[in-house]
Amino acid sequence: MCGIVGYVGSKNSTDVLVDGLRKLEYRGYDSAGIAVFEDGRIKIEKSKGRLDDLENKMGLYNRPNGHCGIGHTRWATHGEPSDVNSHPHGNERISIVHNGIIENYLQIKEKLESKGYVFESETDTESIAKLLDYYYHGDPIETIRRVLGTIEGSYALGILFRDFPDRIFAVRKESPLIVGVGKDENFIASDVPAIIKYTKDYYLLEENEIALLTEQEVKILDIDGEPIQKELHTANWDIEAAEKGGYPHFMIKEIHEQPTAIKNTVSPRIQNGLPNLGLENLTDERLASFDRIHIVACGTAMHAGMVGKYVIERLARVPVEVEVASEFRYRDPILGKNDLAVIISQSGETADTLAALRLAKERGVHTLAVVNVVGSSIAREADSVCYTWAGPEIAVASTKAYSVQLSVMYLLAFQLALVRKTVEPDQIQTLCSQLLDIPAQLEKLLHEVEDECQYYASKFQNAKDLFFIGRGVDYALSLEGSLKLKEISYIHSEAYAAGELKHGTISLITDDIPVIALATQKALYEKTISNIKEVKARGAKVLLVCREDSNLAGELSEYLIKIPLIPDILMPMLSIAPLQLFAYYTSVLRGCDVDKPRNLAKSVTVE
Ligand code: F6R
Repeated sequence: MCGIVGYVGSKNSTDVLVDGLRKLEYRGYDSAGIAVFEDGRIKIEKSKGRLDDLENKMGLYNRPNGHCGIGHTRWATHGEPSDVNSHPHGNERISIVHNGIIENYLQIKEKLESKGYVFESETDTESIAKLLDYYYHGDPIETIRRVLGTIEGSYALGILFRDFPDRIFAVRKESPLIVGVGKDENFIASDVPAIIKYTKDYYLLEENEIALLTEQEVKILDIDGEPIQKELHTANWDIEAAEKGGYPHFMIKEIHEQPTAIKNTVSPRIQNGLPNLGLENLTDERLASFDRIHIVACGTAMHAGMVGKYVIERLARVPVEVEVASEFRYRDPILGKNDLAVIISQSGETADTLAALRLAKERGVHTLAVVNVVGSSIAREADSVCYTWAGPEIAVASTKAYSVQLSVMYLLAFQLALVRKTVEPDQIQTLCSQLLDIPAQLEKLLHEVEDECQYYASKFQNAKDLFFIGRGVDYALSLEGSLKLKEISYIHSEAYAAGELKHGTISLITDDIPVIALATQKALYEKTISNIKEVKARGAKVLLVCREDSNLAGELSEYLIKIPLIPDILMPMLSIAPLQLFAYYTSVLRGCDVDKPRNLAKSVTVE
């Protein structure tokens, strides 16, 4: 989604803003702009397209020259990507950048038009800019307070007032915004990567707080304008983590970071051979007492939850429902007081997932967040939090965040099975030790299958449609393999429970249609083989991902990837790797923008 950067200090602010916005490119955007104080005036430059388009438009002569400014990358919601719809909005008196959506912007617009204001863009953001202008009589804080009392929806805002040069004002609601604190320079940003080159220290701005930044100082005020003291956070990773480190794309770097990410997430949570998630506000007794578990998330995070369902139900014998957050939040779900809601999110800011968490809380359900971004909204609002330690994930397509979410699903399943006494402790100990072995096995597998995956990608790169099939956890994994492929290579792809094909979809299987079949589960192997034979009989070209000891494998498929023998239940931890690599290389071979696929945003902070 949109990105915000603000800078005040002694450096050239245009350079810092464009540089910071580049670090937020991963969030997805289709236009960019900046507003900078130049000789006491606010100079605005904006352009449809990429940051390079903005740079080209500014050239040498129109490049704002100053030490304080705000910048924005816009991911279009209200109004197409165009110069006029790009941010900053406003005029030379007041200029703003905005992330989020203003729900009552039409009412505000009507009111202001009746007062003589003329709107130029199709955006909701312009209504805030004009409203600030309307309310402003010399006191920025008072003006901001009045505007906050009028607008409805979600927002992170960076604001410049011409009468207060070299100052940035910032507020937020439901859309993230941090305030970076440097030496003789200060920042606002939607995310840490934008500022990590300059400082690791930042405040998390809360709702109903107003930040006021000058070169020398950061003041955070409450909604009544009273200064408040806040805890200063320090990012525990550095600039290298947000750079490509010699890899051509963030996605392939992040695929290779998975062993470390899994190790960091799992190792501290296995003590004396047994799982210990160390969850605040969730004792073992309480964990043992839940009647039902609801896993709620979006996209890839939801797919991790799907694997979680199979594993938790199998080991802990507690019913688990998995649902996409955008459905869960609006269908009046039946939630019992003795249920647990597990909310999974990499960013911790996904609007639908956050709303689902709030709904579960309102209904008195204990919420456990599995989140990667420390201090994010979902992490802060949940009753208990289990952080995944993937580090920053920059590529839009989630890979290492998925693997660590899977790891937490396993740990949760192990701990639930232990406290519910559905599996003997010595068996849990064995599973824990097998989970601890995964990073080394995954590292080896990644190196072994990378070339093969690249070759198979070259075979399927021109496909128009492609199918993934599997049973049990392999079906859950198929969903993720298929999403990965379609989002970055733009090949139409679908995932099916292998047994479901013959209920309709098999009519789409004709000569040379690629089918990626997953058959890693011993108990389901024969069944899946029958389904593979069915598609082969209709002319499909099959890439089979199966266990190392699978018989018949060569006869059944044109292409083959073998997964080392680990317990069936843990197979997804390894078998996801070839699917990610296959999607990555297909995208590269098709010349797609791997890390920033079209129309997608990394952190979906609007519904
Ligand atoms: C796909 C992808 C998305 C996210 C989804 C949820 O590769 O990354 O499907 O998984 O938008 O995002 P988070 O996990 O941040 O809530």
